Amino acid sequence: MSDLKAATRLTLLLSLSAGLFAAVTVFVVAGMIADRQERTGIAQALTNGGASRALPLLRKFGCSGCHTIPGVPGADGQVGGPLSGLSGRVYIGGVLTNSSDHMVEWIVAPQRFSPNTAMPITGITEAEARDVAAYLYQR
Ligand code: HEC
Repeated sequence: MSDLKAATRLTLLLSLSAGLFAAVTVFVVAGMIADRQERTGIAQALTNGGASRALPLLRKFGCSGCHTIPGVPGADGQVGGPLSGLSGRVYIGGVLTNSSDHMVEWIVAPQRFSPNTAMPITGITEAEARDVAAYLYQR
């Protein structure tokens, strides 16, 4: 086999693998985006809130000072546990079964359900808590 043929084959092989790699990447990324959109849709339907409004609320009401919250820059508080994986939890604050209504109620008035909890009433409204809950459930 001549060198030229070998080089042509190599080039062909390389471009085929590059094409395959690109196709797989597109497929994986598209899957991730679809997954994320689905999770956001479910979280918003459950809570009747808007996840896109949550970020400034998490700062305004001090949540980010006490909790580490995924996707919120600077939210690295260690007073309470990290607010991640909440959609998979069984209990909220160890006292309420995990449902979207309970999540909203806890965020508004945790001491109503757990009188000795260190989490304070922050002054967040129910509507704002719905937005925050939508955000937290999609993570
Ligand atoms: C002063 C600190 C403080 C602030 C501010 C605070 N939290 Fe908490 N939070 C806690 C502590 C401590 C716990 C653990 C409570 C317990 O288990 O009794 C907690 C628990 C929680 C839980 C239950 C988590 C679980 O693992 O069951 C959620 C959800 C939550 N906080 C959300 C928020 C949100 C949203 C805000 C802002 C509106 C906020 N917190 C503000 C300290 C705080």
